[in-house]
Amino acid sequence: MSTDPKAAIAQMEKIVSLCKRRGFIYQSSEIYGGCGGVWDYGPLGAELKRNLRSAWWNTMTREREDVLGLDASILMNPAIWKASGHVDTFADLMRECSLTNKRVRADHVEPQDGVVMKYSGATSPTGWRWDRTVSALMKNGEHIESFRKRIRALIAQNAGEAAGKPEEIELLNEEKIDAVTGSVDFHPETGGALGEARPFNLMLKTYLGPTATEADVTYLRPETAQAIFAQFKNVYDSSRVKVPFGIGQIGKAFRNEVTPKNFTFRSREFEQMELEFFIKPDEAVEIICGEVAAWSEGADLSEPKPNWGWELWHRYWVDQRTKFYEGIGLGDVLEYYWQTPADLAHYARACVDILCEFPFGTEELEGIAARGDFDLSAHQNASTKSQEIFDEELKTAAAKLTDDQKEALIQKRLAAEAAKIKGEPMPESAVRAWFERLFKGSYVPHVIEPSAGLDRMALAVLAKAFSETEKVDEKGKKEIITVLHLHPRVAPIKVGVFPLLKNKPELVAKAREVYALLKKHMNCFYDETASIGRRYARQDEVGTPFGVTIDFDSLGEKGPELLDTVTLRHRDSGEQERVKISDLLGKLLPLVS
Ligand code: GAP
Repeated sequence: MSTDPKAAIAQMEKIVSLCKRRGFIYQSSEIYGGCGGVWDYGPLGAELKRNLRSAWWNTMTREREDVLGLDASILMNPAIWKASGHVDTFADLMRECSLTNKRVRADHVEPQDGVVMKYSGATSPTGWRWDRTVSALMKNGEHIESFRKRIRALIAQNAGEAAGKPEEIELLNEEKIDAVTGSVDFHPETGGALGEARPFNLMLKTYLGPTATEADVTYLRPETAQAIFAQFKNVYDSSRVKVPFGIGQIGKAFRNEVTPKNFTFRSREFEQMELEFFIKPDEAVEIICGEVAAWSEGADLSEPKPNWGWELWHRYWVDQRTKFYEGIGLGDVLEYYWQTPADLAHYARACVDILCEFPFGTEELEGIAARGDFDLSAHQNASTKSQEIFDEELKTAAAKLTDDQKEALIQKRLAAEAAKIKGEPMPESAVRAWFERLFKGSYVPHVIEPSAGLDRMALAVLAKAFSETEKVDEKGKKEIITVLHLHPRVAPIKVGVFPLLKNKPELVAKAREVYALLKKHMNCFYDETASIGRRYARQDEVGTPFGVTIDFDSLGEKGPELLDTVTLRHRDSGEQERVKISDLLGKLLPLVS
């Protein structure tokens, strides 16, 4: 990542341009001027996303015995969003520009310096009048005439046709108010003074049913997680699983972000890959195992143990997710932000943000939260449907406890409730009622939630992979060579297949044979146009890790020992090796899957 903001912007522009030029990512609805915060994935982007999705799904569900998959609907009963807290609290603080009504997230306004100018009204020769009094920031270095021109253009844009031509608008009663430094009270794009910060709910509303009345309002899901909670009991009852176990889901999520930005990083429509991993409450672990294992630096996290409480499970998932990112080539660009008690939601015990280096800064890729039993309990209360599970082992172990041992557990919990720094402590009567259920073997499971964004992951791998080098050819002509060093597991095209010459039918036939052999197992690209160097370069630019060239040796022209061999080229090292066609699949498959 560059520390120079201009270089960072230039780097992002190059990535955005490559994405469009080579078919990774396009602006949605581009022919109609776009659609803010929404992106379409082209042929290569679709493959890249599919590979990331499969990597997540295989690692998190298929390759594990303790995680099941779910594919829930985007539209759900709005009561889910009320119970989860999204209707009341899923909001960003937002401020509105007094000049243009454009909104900006209150925490996204960078400090600015300049002179505050005030106007009381505007008129135009069309007879149009504007009776508002507004202030705007003329940034340091901005000439007064270009500032006025900018303000006229913004007012005209907002007023529509009635105002006529922007240059004919007359700004009335201009006053120079004050010089300010480090002010966060002006819109970063327009310079218009910002109003008070107000909460703005991020959920996208829609109507279910033909009448479109308030009674039909529901929301496009802002996260996939809630469907997992809402279906927890169905999955539990229909699968032979025991806590601890998890439910994973990949799917679209929608947020009416106030300021979508940084290409696909903050979008309004995006895809999440979320796991809700359900665990026993620590008290249940203590009753069954006699203790809850404590976490310490260097603890063995390789295999889950029965005496793990929420803390070790949380650490375990941070470790698992780190390994996942290492497996797709992002291992060396990760950082971790452990939320402080002040950052945490009142129900959360811990949350770590896995951050990744993007050209525009080090930003969140995934959050891993220990959320207690908040979510399932919220749905249990709102739906009045029990979300408890029954644990025979717990019941048996609890039956062996003396009354004093039971009371000691209750007292420990009461002390923890009293020491809470956020949220209301649970009343003693509720704590005792909870333990009564626990001693009978029943509890609402707690949850660890690793929640990743697929679009952010795709952007992270593209940004990490992007490289440019300057090359000077034999004639002294400089050329910029772009290579995407994508990990073979995620690369959209795994192998380029090239006959050395396109006008030699024997070479073409053999190359077609190799292509047919490989493409059943991996995404390949057949290319017979241009020089072989040019074809390699085209594939390097889209991150294809391997190239297979079929030449005259492949036809046995230099001797029978080379018959049916090909040149296998490795993108990153440029190394070339001779490989038998019959060995190709065995060599490539483990590298790309
Ligand atoms: N269920 C928890 C949850 O949704 P979050 O931190 O709001 O937590 C999880 O979202 C992940 O989803 C983020 O780490 C990010 O990768 C992705 N994400 C969230 N908002 C996004 C947006 N507007 N555009 C793209 N990805 C987003």
